[in-house]
Amino acid sequence: MRKNIVAGNWKMNTTLQEGVKLAEEVNAALKETKANCDVVICVPFTHLASVNGVIDQNVLGLGAENCADHASGAYTGEVSAPMVASTGAKYVILGHSERRQYYGETAETLREKVALALANGLTPIFCIGEVLEERENGTYNDVVKAQIVDGLFNLSAEDFGKIILAYEPVWAIGTGKTATADQAEDMHAHIRSVIAEKYGKEVADNTSILYGGSCKPSNAAELFAKPDVDGGLIGGAALKCADFMGIVKAF
Ligand code: 13P
Repeated sequence: MRKNIVAGNWKMNTTLQEGVKLAEEVNAALKETKANCDVVICVPFTHLASVNGVIDQNVLGLGAENCADHASGAYTGEVSAPMVASTGAKYVILGHSERRQYYGETAETLREKVALALANGLTPIFCIGEVLEERENGTYNDVVKAQIVDGLFNLSAEDFGKIILAYEPVWAIGTGKTATADQAEDMHAHIRSVIAEKYGKEVADNTSILYGGSCKPSNAAELFAKPDVDGGLIGGAALKCADFMGIVKAF
């Protein structure tokens, strides 16, 4: 059966020292209160190795926020999947809307990134989601389906089974405007049906689909109570240990 997961996405926040301290706090809190779900933090590249040194990945998984679409070579400033894996990280966020929007990530580059992540033993947390205009003009189901088809449906069923999906409506990210639990459930059920059409019901039922976008302690329980919402990808609220733990405890 699919797992329930709460994952933090720290984005471009915290210095190394602040990040190590936050990771230590979350790790200690999870040792004290056992979570009823998997918990992961995805942190800046610069923090990965140090954070790996201060957490117990049996209670708190570690991931990166991106990786390159090449394995190595003359790509100044890029960080590859083998480099991420060599820090001890086990997860990598791919296709976040901020990467698609500000750094021109396309389905083609994402297919390369997913392949490299999987080849290096990393679990991709693959993000999808419509912008406000697409929500308002009613094309959101088609937009999200196309992101999944174009980014992931080249994978074998076995490899698709290693992917975690995160539905993040762009209009809900960092805006304080959460999708309602019903809007999230409708989309997650749609996503599961898209997966079932391609890979069958068993693969679809085993895929964890997280919700992201202004998720906080006060709304997490209602979102996570929905049958097709298997957890959250948390931005702002992952930067404070108490808030992040408040969301973890929603399970
Ligand atoms: P917020 O939780 O800050 O809205 O960000 C969500 C997100 O983008 C997580 O990847």
